[in-house]
Amino acid sequence: MVVPGSQEEKMFYPPDDLQMDAHVPDFNSYLQMYRKSIENPDAFWKEIADEFFWKKPATGSMLQYNFDVTKGSIYVKCMEGAKTNMCYNVLDRHVLKGNLGEKVAYYWEGNSPDQHLTVTYSQLLSQVCRCANVLKKMGVKKGERVSIYLPMIPELVITMLACARIGAVHSVVFAGFSSESLCERIIDAQSCVLVTADGVYRGEKLVNLKQIADEALQKCREKSSTSVTKCVVIKHQTLRTKCGAARNKLQTPWDSDCDVWWDEVMKDSPEECEPEWLDAEDPLFILYTSGSTGKPKGVLHTVAGYLLYTALTFKCVFDYHHDDVYWCTADIGWITGHSYIMYGPLANGASSVLFEGIPVHPHVGRLWEIIEKYKVTKFYTAPTAIRLLMKYGREPVQKYDLSSLRILGSVGEPINPEAWHWYHEVVGRGKCPIVDTFWQTETGGHVLAPLPAATPLKPGSATFPFFGIEPAILNEHGEELQGEAEGYLVFRRPWPGIMRTVYKNHERFQNTYFKKFPGFYVTGDGCRRDKDGYYWITGRIDDMLNVSGHLMSTAEVEAALMEHPAVAEAAVVSRPHQVKGECLYCFVTVKDCKEFNHTLMEELKRQVREKIGPIATPDFIQNAPALPKTRSGKIMRRILRQVARNERELGDVSSLTDPKVVEVLFSQRCEGAA
Ligand code: WTA
Repeated sequence: MVVPGSQEEKMFYPPDDLQMDAHVPDFNSYLQMYRKSIENPDAFWKEIADEFFWKKPATGSMLQYNFDVTKGSIYVKCMEGAKTNMCYNVLDRHVLKGNLGEKVAYYWEGNSPDQHLTVTYSQLLSQVCRCANVLKKMGVKKGERVSIYLPMIPELVITMLACARIGAVHSVVFAGFSSESLCERIIDAQSCVLVTADGVYRGEKLVNLKQIADEALQKCREKSSTSVTKCVVIKHQTLRTKCGAARNKLQTPWDSDCDVWWDEVMKDSPEECEPEWLDAEDPLFILYTSGSTGKPKGVLHTVAGYLLYTALTFKCVFDYHHDDVYWCTADIGWITGHSYIMYGPLANGASSVLFEGIPVHPHVGRLWEIIEKYKVTKFYTAPTAIRLLMKYGREPVQKYDLSSLRILGSVGEPINPEAWHWYHEVVGRGKCPIVDTFWQTETGGHVLAPLPAATPLKPGSATFPFFGIEPAILNEHGEELQGEAEGYLVFRRPWPGIMRTVYKNHERFQNTYFKKFPGFYVTGDGCRRDKDGYYWITGRIDDMLNVSGHLMSTAEVEAALMEHPAVAEAAVVSRPHQVKGECLYCFVTVKDCKEFNHTLMEELKRQVREKIGPIATPDFIQNAPALPKTRSGKIMRRILRQVARNERELGDVSSLTDPKVVEVLFSQRCEGAA
């Protein structure tokens, strides 16, 4: 991994043609707008809010808050007193007033290239209304939670917007998560309805989603009295039409008290549904993200602030124009999909590609083929996908006409210079700026990002703060560092899109993000500011790992390993990985009477997959007769990281109880590890 900025820093300047009609046409305009957003946030955000529909205007100022735990409870309120509806703003507003009804909202591309369809804004609106009526009929009320466990199909968007329309709170669980993870999230949210699909093809693999959902509900029943009264099941397009054989293979399990088919309930459901007018600060959704203690946190976002923030970041960072075809390859199960496949693009009336498949199926040129097919102008993906596709060389990219592309985006982890240059030259033909967007589930939208026509780029840097964002870099003692510096990345004040709380656990919210450095929101990321004021994210500085752009905590993987009866102790660290960025390297101490062998290793891998999901499958599991500990009994993870990376310069090990432990670990390193 190259340390960002350690290479010669060549700057990349915005292309002239982009600057002509850009929303933020040059760096001076950025600076002016930025200054206004910081000096007069009320006027700044009011202007943005004026583009949207408010059933009742705000009575308070645009942002009220306490950001200092020492002064009382943390809170952020945006547009207090206002009443609105997210769904109305992203659908009805376009259909009724903007004459965008016939505009395509989504070009859906299925797992295989012969599966595709288009959904216009008016079609989306009528489907959403029908679904909203279905949910209402099931008794779902404002403020109640609906869990959604679906692949990337239009029904996912429809269900989420239907929730937003009636004021229900959606909790989307990525469909790659295990039944255990789904169960945990259903219990925490106390959802009353679960929406899922019978099955889905991921590449060549058929996944029986309904069965996983059933297992999750069964586990919920065993652990607590389940809150879910109805499970709505969508028949997947593909399985419905093409794969009769697949359907037979699937054997959708059925509980007639609880399960209903989507088609049947949607069939006669009315196409009109008055939106529920919500308070600006009513919750819009919960999205679970890994927490460093192991238990996922239900990050809660609210209606008005999230609308303003995702709409504006989308418009500026991708310099959105009405004739754009935009494509973000993320899954809606993650925040990137929520903010930049759903709400941000829809708030702007954009046409997006909604892609269900994977980049290498049925061939390694699939992404490029889709860009050519829809003449995609703005393309947003993750460094891990770029690194994966780089392996196949230029040829699969150059087979396709990518001349429609104007802006490329990156998200999820620091992008290494090699991947940056390949993306820039091979995919973008040297002509497209790359917007490297740094943000988090918690921030709701981009917080550090270049603006494509305004910001000169340095490969690997997320450049400068977005409007309304005031970053600072602190040292270990909480002292603010000026000028060139490296330390903890924090934010001094809130912005409309910041999370409001951890669902049902405000204390955890305050402890996680505000306690370490009072007065600041702590991102958990390390950061460097260079002599030109550019920000460079250096990676997590807590016990979190970023595997293929997915954040997970060492604690949750450790907990999954420890549940195996043979395991006495487990410690997990990250190790650099060529494609995934980081991967999981696990140290396992077995109980006295047990043997560490290949079978156990396979069992442990399976165990983690089952507990968390395939994304958390350990890459390496090493036998650790003992773990290196401090005198106070704390595992020294720094040393374990060095063992995983085979770095023999250990530095200060004086706090280790037994240095011999480390020698043993080095001698037993996993084969295949660097
Ligand atoms: C990391 C994803 C460097 C970071 C939107 C952050 C990044 C975590 C970048 C949040 C980037 C995200 N450069 N690191 N451009 N984008 N990260 O909540 O560690 O899934 O804290 O949100 O991903 O991950 P999350």
